[in-house]
Amino acid sequence: MSLSLAETVAAIAADMAGRTERGKVATYIPELAGVDPGQFGIAVVDAEGTLTAAGDSETPFSIQSVSKVFTLTLALGKVGDTLWNRVGREPSGNAFNSITQLEYEKGIPRNPFINAGAIVVADAILAGHTPKVALGEILRFLRFIADDEDIHIDQKVARSEQDTGFRNAALANYLRAFGNLRAPVEQVLGVYFHHCAIAVTCRQLALAGRYLAFGGRHPTAGGRVVSAGRAKRINALMLTCGHYDGSGDFAFKVGIPAKSGVGGGILAVVPGKAAIAVWSPGLDAQGNSVLGSAALEILSQRMQWSVF
Ligand code: DON
Repeated sequence: MSLSLAETVAAIAADMAGRTERGKVATYIPELAGVDPGQFGIAVVDAEGTLTAAGDSETPFSIQSVSKVFTLTLALGKVGDTLWNRVGREPSGNAFNSITQLEYEKGIPRNPFINAGAIVVADAILAGHTPKVALGEILRFLRFIADDEDIHIDQKVARSEQDTGFRNAALANYLRAFGNLRAPVEQVLGVYFHHCAIAVTCRQLALAGRYLAFGGRHPTAGGRVVSAGRAKRINALMLTCGHYDGSGDFAFKVGIPAKSGVGGGILAVVPGKAAIAVWSPGLDAQGNSVLGSAALEILSQRMQWSVF
């Protein structure tokens, strides 16, 4: 007998609550080091707009690199495909914060989801404006696609990253040396750190992901966020690069586009069927949520949700 989506989601939350192998919370951002690893949340929004959630789905967490999907969308809206002159579209096979490829690939980051790529994307959004204006634009966009005005930047997390983000500062300076940043390094980093420090719940994140699941449309506002073709291409990048050097393994096990963050959140997209957000703060060696990945593997199997 097959279970309904609601029963499946509830069963997954119950399963995750009993797991003891939870990975390790990110400690390199001091403000994230104190997050309780015992938490797990899941929210799924389907094609009818029905939201199914379980566990800690209403607890805000740090969006971190999941925000890179939304900044990429905004930057493509601003500069179109010229963005690809500055950022590649290949998996890096390296850690999200690695600098090595930047030297021999002459300041062109492999993809928009590794830190170097997302820093270039932040620069494209800045485009001569102040960081405040750019961040306002990012927040407005997220609130619009999530249908929720109650989405904010956690200033403590932003400060914590700003105080300790020496690797990102190195990446940004290196990009600037290659002429691939236009705004001053401090401004670009300010935008980058603050958009990574946005707090969201699983419910908000799943709702925000609907345009990617449903052909670029905003299901409730009726309009279009991006063209169907652009939604497809962003999903393709999520599948190939969304879990950094763990992307191949995630595609193998789960088989759907998804983007992770070191806050422990993952946004996953089942084209035509659902947008899913899972969250659990414990990470694996690649910086991806251990229970979040496990939950998505089970959900995709039980619902037979896969792009393959
Ligand atoms: O720049 C950083 O290191 C963080 N703000 C974001 C990294 C991240 O989320 C990688 N994801 N797994």
